[in-house]
Amino acid sequence: MGNYDKLLQPLQVAGLRLKNRMLSAPTSLAELGPGEHYSDDNINYYKLKASGGVALVSVGDAIVDLETGRSHPMQVGLDDPSAIPYLVKLTDAIHSGGAAAEIEIDHGGALCDPAFIGGKCAIGPSGYVDEWGDEVKEMTEEQIYDIAEKFGAAAKMAKDCGFDMVMIHAGHGWLLHQFISPVTNHRTDRWGGSIENRMRFPLLVVEKVRAAVGRNFPIDIRISGSERMEGGYGIETGVEIAKALDGKVDLIHVSAGSQQDMYSAVLMHPGAFQAHGENSGLAAEIKKHVKTPVITVGAFSEPDKMEAFLEETGVDCIAMGRALIADPFLPRKLMRGRAEDITPCLRCGECQSGLMKNKCMRCAVNPYIGREFEYFHPIPTREKKTVLIVGGGPAGMQAAITACERGHRVTLVEQSDRLGGLKYADNADFKANIRRYRDMTAAKVMRLPIDIRLNTVVTDELVAEVRPDAILACVGADPWALPVPTDSAAQVVFGAELKADTPVGENVVVIGGGLIGCEEGIQLAREGHKVTILEMQEELAPDCGRMHRLNVLHQIEVEPNLTPATGFRCTGITADAVTAVDAEGKEAVFAADTVVMAAGMRSRSAEVERLAAYGTEFYVCGDASRARQIGQATRDGHDAIVNLGL
Ligand SMILES: Cc1cc2nc3c(=O)[nH]c(=O)nc-3n(C[C@H](O)[C@H](O)[C@H](O)COP(=O)(O)O)c2cc1C
Repeated sequence: MGNYDKLLQPLQVAGLRLKNRMLSAPTSLAELGPGEHYSDDNINYYKLKASGGVALVSVGDAIVDLETGRSHPMQVGLDDPSAIPYLVKLTDAIHSGGAAAEIEIDHGGALCDPAFIGGKCAIGPSGYVDEWGDEVKEMTEEQIYDIAEKFGAAAKMAKDCGFDMVMIHAGHGWLLHQFISPVTNHRTDRWGGSIENRMRFPLLVVEKVRAAVGRNFPIDIRISGSERMEGGYGIETGVEIAKALDGKVDLIHVSAGSQQDMYSAVLMHPGAFQAHGENSGLAAEIKKHVKTPVITVGAFSEPDKMEAFLEETGVDCIAMGRALIADPFLPRKLMRGRAEDITPCLRCGECQSGLMKNKCMRCAVNPYIGREFEYFHPIPTREKKTVLIVGGGPAGMQAAITACERGHRVTLVEQSDRLGGLKYADNADFKANIRRYRDMTAAKVMRLPIDIRLNTVVTDELVAEVRPDAILACVGADPWALPVPTDSAAQVVFGAELKADTPVGENVVVIGGGLIGCEEGIQLAREGHKVTILEMQEELAPDCGRMHRLNVLHQIEVEPNLTPATGFRCTGITADAVTAVDAEGKEAVFAADTVVMAAGMRSRSAEVERLAAYGTEFYVCGDASRARQIGQATRDGHDAIVNLGL
């Protein structure tokens, strides 16, 4: 771990001093409180980010005109005076955590569902009927001026409520971006056509916001440096956009992509298949052409790489969304010389997937997300206990960390020679984030005052020696073999146990199209094997959160060596093939030199029962309870320890 002089350097932006170069990117909320205002939970979510040491916390997506601009129901209106006390509480909370506060001001334009704007038609630069049959109306000149005024009024309200800066959202496919993009702006008047004309509305908005907030109040603008989709603009236009804004705003925040296209939206939130700092080249290019300070965003989380990026490109700041959900204290850990204690983001998309599916944000590696109140008001540990944690995977490691934080005496027993579990993460580049999380967390646990016993199985003698008040069974799960007739000459390997050096033949059939099967299929196809994924259901990876699933399905679609065969039930495995039947009972044969079994995992229930028989207070955590994903395991481990202290 290196030095972080660049990341820790302050930056003056108009009248505001940013204490370092790490900013919390705008992230919207899972759900608002009563009256559609910020709830105490929402406020704690942002306060936690501020407390972690970032210079600036951006509050996501506030709408300048609720009547026409709301694209989803978790957006507060900055034209609604009843929001004021909640906004004031929010800025207070961010300031009390030591960060400056910014709010993103936005209008959803053509992407507003009529359900969120009182049943009216959405408005945008050009009229059309969308894929759900809803009409979008072309904005009149009067509407264009009216909405620009509303951006100004919203910025003024934000300033009056204590925000230190506003971010105008001109990227990601929302209204201002709809004017900039040739994909969505088909106007032939002075608001469409050339890039000068397409920038006219965003520049009018900047003018109105500046007039409303004054010279010394900083304005940040978020743009997509490239749309990264078919027909969309690229970085050359991104540079033109930035040049048009140069000197008129105080920060240019360069993101990427558009909500108009699903895979472009994935690239906007780069996932496990994309690179660290995936979109950083866009900000680096724009920096060469403008004087205004430039921010980059997208898949940053590794401090050494972040520091090197700022050093090499001259880009001014790095904004992080998910890395600060995974570990809000990332900046403080750098300041304190404890970079090795950072919990790295997996870029698994659990935060967004939960937000969309259950209106509840969760994080695979941070058990406090969605329960930030508990961070500030911890459930007290009434009694310190001696706890025996059995199993050193994600559930066991998180339990050990939480137990140490709460002052319990901990013995951690692991049957293999290392902590971490997650063996399936060893064989693919796109699992690098999981490996990093596993290895950093294991190293962190090793540094804690814990009695760690590797290569150890729990015996009567061990229990008699430790004399635990409680046992946590975090013993995991085993892969399950589909009970079909199988020729003894067939080469069958478990997907969850594939390693980089496992011998695999030319033709591969993966049995099971859940997340593990799909990911192993992608990896083997990338290595040059001809892969078929055989799945009984019609859908692939239904067990996977929405954002990562979109990414996985895209990789499958573009991978020439990979063929999904859905709707087929496996009936047998011969020496060189897999036999199956479709829904009509028609038989099919798929050539297979190697069969990868990815038919599911079964909890190690016999070991769970053996440990339960010791008769202590007893908890079953993670896959040992039911095979699921990392997030459930870490929450199980954390929660068991909290319960234990009651
Ligand atoms: C849960 C979540 C909510 C988000 N909400 C917003 C939002 O309201 N406005 C916005 O401009 N971007 C939003 N984003 C995008 C982030 O600001 C950021 O650009 C993106 O996540 C890439 O950065 P990261 O890789 O550091 O997460 C959101 C991202 C996440 C993960």
